[in-house]
Amino acid sequence: MQIFKDKTILITGANRGIGRSFVEALLNNGVGKIYATCRDVNKMPTFNDDRIVHLALDITDDKQVALVASAAQDTEILINNAGTVNPGNILEGGLLGMENDLQVNYFGTIKMMRAFAPILIRNKPSLMINIISIAAYSPLPSIAGYAASKAALFSATQSVRIELAKKDVSVYAVNPGAIDTDMNKGSDWKMADPDRTAIKILENVSDGTLDSIPDEMGQGMYTTWREEPAKLAKLFSDLYYSENTK
Ligand SMILES: NC(=O)c1ccc[n+]([C@@H]2O[C@H](COP(=O)([O-])OP(=O)(O)OC[C@H]3O[C@@H](n4cnc5c(N)ncnc54)[C@H](OP(=O)(O)O)[C@@H]3O)[C@@H](O)[C@H]2O)c1
Repeated sequence: MQIFKDKTILITGANRGIGRSFVEALLNNGVGKIYATCRDVNKMPTFNDDRIVHLALDITDDKQVALVASAAQDTEILINNAGTVNPGNILEGGLLGMENDLQVNYFGTIKMMRAFAPILIRNKPSLMINIISIAAYSPLPSIAGYAASKAALFSATQSVRIELAKKDVSVYAVNPGAIDTDMNKGSDWKMADPDRTAIKILENVSDGTLDSIPDEMGQGMYTTWREEPAKLAKLFSDLYYSENTK
């Protein structure tokens, strides 16, 4: 993972889950500096490493995004990891939850991409890594708003990849399956561990894989989708009806 050596990296949602695992994996792989950002810095783990700079950042807050961008002008790699999920299907799910998923996962990440694009261009060659979801390929109706927000983010990521292609900024799309974090609390699925997932994502980026799926469950779903998109839709349909008959 030489490409992370001595680099300055900003991570959103770094206090827990995959974001926290990114911080730990990068510290173990020779990173130069990490801007570890999260909504409430009091909730940031003590990483005990002077390469860490803590910054408060809610990615939906324009002022905070601007402040963080001005404080982190030396960023060479941006990891857009922060995300949220609200349960509910399209016909009966709460609209507020759906709006929130869009505000955070889609518009919040767009705010970060816009604020940091000039910085990444100036500090080229540079990387932007967006953590999306396998649900971008096919929706699970019990988290339909989340799936829509991630499909929108997947599209925005592909667009920004083209927009930045001639500016020496490489844009990576990562679409995991289910990972064992707070996001899946209470689930009895056999899920990938966030530490292992973060390392796999960083390895895939190191290898130059622009579109990657870091975990076995996600890879299985992606293979199914590639064979025939309707097959993944059927898998999620079966899952949805089994969830609703429990
Ligand atoms: N876990 C999975 O199965 C899975 C699968 C595919 C993709 N992903 C994606 O992976 C990313 C990380 O998820 P995770 O599993 O690590 O979830 P997690 O453990 O629930 O952590 C989510 C992180 O995002 C932060 N966050 C939420 N809203 C935010 C906002 N408005 N501004 C800044 N930070 C915000 C949270 O901060 P607070 O502590 O302040 O809430 C937390 O640090 C997300 O984008 C998620 O959609 C996860």
